[in-house]
Amino acid sequence: MESIYLIGFMGSGKTTVAHELAKRCGAAVQDTDRMVEINYELSIKEIFAAFGEDTFRAYEHQMLINTNPANTIVSTGGGIIESQQNINWLSTHQVIYLKTSWSEIVRRLQHDKNRPIWNDQTKDKLALLNAREEKYLQASKYVIQTDEKNPKEIANEIVRLI
Ligand code: S3P
Repeated sequence: MESIYLIGFMGSGKTTVAHELAKRCGAAVQDTDRMVEINYELSIKEIFAAFGEDTFRAYEHQMLINTNPANTIVSTGGGIIESQQNINWLSTHQVIYLKTSWSEIVRRLQHDKNRPIWNDQTKDKLALLNAREEKYLQASKYVIQTDEKNPKEIANEIVRLI
């Protein structure tokens, strides 16, 4: 099986859905955020604080292109589409965009303290979601609306789709 990549904004459920989908496909799971943390021995929060977003994006790119090409469900960071290089790379792979509404994202992430971009008070996150929408669409083959669906239902929908 060709590896499947899940993309979408923070809080869209990529990680949870990746595990549900992997169970159904008998596939492994990779998560670009966890790969960065393991490889560089720092948390995402620490990388942003010490080196800034650009460095994180460079690390993230390296992890993306080193993901398993087969038998794996890959959960990506919400900003993976911030580089055109990543969009181009993703558009040649099996990519599913988990699309979530702003109100649902706010509901899911209201107590989050770990995501540097979500917790950056200088950033307009709704504007970021709107700006990213086009990039998620460019990078993906399929779009799944995730509001009012649980991770199991979403995983089942992906199995039917691919
Ligand atoms: C980011 C999303 C995060 C993580 C980093 C940056 C973003 O991943 O990669 O904090 O720019 O949206 P999740 O989408 O898993 O929260």
